[in-house]
Amino acid sequence: MTLDVGSLRDQALAAIDAAADLRALDEVRVSYLGKKGAVTGLLKQLGGMDPDSRKEAGRQINELKDRLESALGERKAGLQAAALEARLQAERVDVTLPAREEQVGRIHPVSQVTDEIIAIFADMGFAVAEGPDVEDDFHNFEALNLPKEHPARQMHDTFYLEAEQNGAPLLLRTHTSPVQIRTMLAGKPPFRIIAPGRTYRVDSDMTHTPMFHQVEGLLIDRRTHMGHLKGCLIDFVRSYFESDRIPVRFRPSYFPFTEPSAEMDIGCKRSQGELVVGEGSDWLEILGCGMVHPKVLRAVNLDPDEWQGFAFGMGIDRVAMLKYGIPDLRTFFEADLRWLKHYGFMPLDVPTLAGGLSR
Ligand code: DAH
Repeated sequence: MTLDVGSLRDQALAAIDAAADLRALDEVRVSYLGKKGAVTGLLKQLGGMDPDSRKEAGRQINELKDRLESALGERKAGLQAAALEARLQAERVDVTLPAREEQVGRIHPVSQVTDEIIAIFADMGFAVAEGPDVEDDFHNFEALNLPKEHPARQMHDTFYLEAEQNGAPLLLRTHTSPVQIRTMLAGKPPFRIIAPGRTYRVDSDMTHTPMFHQVEGLLIDRRTHMGHLKGCLIDFVRSYFESDRIPVRFRPSYFPFTEPSAEMDIGCKRSQGELVVGEGSDWLEILGCGMVHPKVLRAVNLDPDEWQGFAFGMGIDRVAMLKYGIPDLRTFFEADLRWLKHYGFMPLDVPTLAGGLSR
């Protein structure tokens, strides 16, 4: 009995060659080398042969098996490479296409307004400074001329922590003013910084959230006076609200860390529950400010006869609401994506004075 190994081989090799993809190739493999495959069928015939032809036939079948296995392997590698190539072509990314804006998320109004404020003050030569959210009594109160029994401390509704330092509990900073102290203790005058960041008070209603944002400003130099403060803040407000005609006024006020102290108001109009900034005969308070108190300067080892300066503190959330007409403060912190889509800003429109703050 002879086996027609040769024609089976040619037939199998043609089928391997013709397999158009990996699945078809595997079907070819099974039909020849699988349990019920043609080559396996040949092996089963060996049993009925005489010893000499069995030996010869066995050798031929094994050769055929090897040949087919290596042809299958080659074809498989070829098909895999072709599939990869096709996928690379299909998934090619054109990096020169403009970004699809609707898919990149939005910048939160607090971040946007913080960037706008930084852009304006950076242009006037102010650097950004930072301090920790967890503060100690010295930086948050004592050095700012708010000693232990000072009545103004009660207005701060402080969150106290269990941890203590030097016998006094640590706390969540109630304002960004402690960054003034940290900046002056860490460096040498002159100073010109703004410090935006989170602040905390035990307070929660329509217009107050337990966490909110402030920006602190500090300028210390020789011969600084109230005129510098007014000029700087008037420039700021007009840049921020993007209008040169915003009416402003400074009202005498009281803060322990400044003397004299003032609050700055901007002109506005209130009608039928709506608020329009920059026109009308009403006033709206937007920040506190003043000349840095000599006691504060002494607390950071500066001689008040040599160095003077001004400071200010402003609520970021509040000026964001005013500029962008956002009615409810609490919505800022609800993480509602629909709200963010409505009030948020495009990440690629970075606010600059040259390019426009808010477009
Ligand atoms: N720290 C004050 C507050 O949280 C705001 C403030 C007022 C800051 C006057 C100042 C300033 O630097 O001069 O209410």
